[in-house]
Amino acid sequence: MAQSPALPAEQYNYDIVRKFTIMAIVWAVLGMSVGVYIASELAWPFLNFDIPQITFGRLRPVHTTLVIFGFGGSALFATAYYVVQRTCQARLAFPWLAEFTFWGWTGGVALGVITYMMGITQGREYAEFEWPLDLAIAVVWVSYIVIYVETIRRRSQPHIYVANWFYLAFLLAVALLHIFNNLAVPVSLTKSYSLFSGVQDAMTQWWYGHNAVGFFLTAAFLGMMYYFVPKQAGRPVYSYRLSIIHFWALIFLYMWAGGHHLHWTALPDWVSTLAATFSILLLMPSWGGMINGIMTLSGAWDKLRSDPIMLFLITSLSFYGMSTFEGPLMSLKSVNALSHYTDWTIGHVHSGALGWVALVTFGSFYHLIPRLWDTKMYSQTLIYVHFWLATIGIVLYISSMWVAGIGQGLMLRSFDDYGNLAYTFIETVEFMHTPYAWRALGGAFFVSGALVMVYNVVMTLWAARREQAGEAKLVAKQLAKA
Ligand code: HEM
Ligand code: HEM
Repeated sequence: MAQSPALPAEQYNYDIVRKFTIMAIVWAVLGMSVGVYIASELAWPFLNFDIPQITFGRLRPVHTTLVIFGFGGSALFATAYYVVQRTCQARLAFPWLAEFTFWGWTGGVALGVITYMMGITQGREYAEFEWPLDLAIAVVWVSYIVIYVETIRRRSQPHIYVANWFYLAFLLAVALLHIFNNLAVPVSLTKSYSLFSGVQDAMTQWWYGHNAVGFFLTAAFLGMMYYFVPKQAGRPVYSYRLSIIHFWALIFLYMWAGGHHLHWTALPDWVSTLAATFSILLLMPSWGGMINGIMTLSGAWDKLRSDPIMLFLITSLSFYGMSTFEGPLMSLKSVNALSHYTDWTIGHVHSGALGWVALVTFGSFYHLIPRLWDTKMYSQTLIYVHFWLATIGIVLYISSMWVAGIGQGLMLRSFDDYGNLAYTFIETVEFMHTPYAWRALGGAFFVSGALVMVYNVVMTLWAARREQAGEAKLVAKQLAKA
């Protein structure tokens, strides 16, 4: 862990970190509320109201874009800009360019959402932006890399702390994925066709999709974890050596596993087998990260009883461990034959997305916000309330999806004595209604937790402003007296 900062706090560029933090919370509430709405549309289809802009098909990419790129992306900009400054003990390079990345990213997410609702999309999952937006995003991303690398170059510490390694891998890999997966021939301002075709097109898309999970939703959040868990625990990372080994293993293995999204398709069989093999191997570096994070608390386990932020962080690591156990299992061709095309996949996604990505972000934000505004959180109790609402929400979400997914998978492959299908498709849809309603309820719990956070943060900032205004008045009075 880096030593205590050589620079006084006011010399860091916190303004940009504050902006991204606030936007991350705004996108979280919006994106998760849309998640609850589309979950309700699946349970009660009348909610589509025959209005094209709000039908499930259009709102689904709105949800994924808001939560992954809006919430997740802004949280990563905020924490990466904070962590690189603190661990390198250097001020962020090119403040005007950092400002540009804020407006570029925020504008890009907003425009993406509007265009999807209008039906403008490339139809590639998690890469739905049409080509003009893709180009703009590439410019923003390259600026992000330039700022990050230049700040590291200007460091006053000889050492580059491991969190920066994870952020750097994420920055470089996402640039590569974004550029190659979006190679397309534009035919108008709002329409383009992929440069790839057939199975190569599918393979490129899932090389992108899987590594978006691997580098955007995993490596970068591990970077966040490697800074905020030791800081909040007040202890050094459990094993620095383990962090380096699992870093290299993780980034090497992820790139080969995308084919597991295309089992039992036109993909050559050997590519499927290769992807499954690398997915099984991925368990090891993933658990290396989880163990390193959790063991950082060894000797200070009592903090789990007294520190709600630690609860967020350690629970997120437990969900990370769980989803990276479930993923390799689902990558086996035999298991995937049951899980694919069912809600088991959706449950897996959200144990990673809600359990890992969202919880580690909330925990890190509760650590970060008081430091950014030089104050303390308004209420510790409300952090506990948020934690429990979120945890109950996740448990309801995941378990209902296991019931819906495994149930449907089993129904679709059962035969009667004459060899006919035992259930029609519509019978499986009827069966899923109840778990769908439970999932919507779980989502509502999760969103209410986020709203409790919003209240707590607003009250914190308000109190900080009052406190600082009071102090300023006092100083002015003393100056006047003198
Ligand atoms: C209140 C919280 C949330 C609710 C209620 C919710 C609900 C949903 C629903 C209903 C779907 C569509 C499932 C389907 O097509 O059958 C979905 C998809 C998805 N959501 Fe969420 N979501 C929430 C939060 C999040 C968060 C925080 C993330 C990421 C950080 C996320 C990432 C995704 C992804 C990646 C998919 C696409 C899954 C796939 O194609 O397999 N969600 N969500
Ligand atoms: C060792 C780690 C992991 C492995 C091997 C793995 C494997 C898998 C497999 C086999 C699928 C199902 C593919 C299909 O049938 O279509 C899947 C889907 C998915 N996983 Fe994971 N997973 C891992 C970790 C994670 C984590 C930590 C997250 C989230 C933070 C995550 C997010 C997703 C998403 C978003 C999908 C759905 C993609 C889509 O169809 O739209 N995975 N994963």
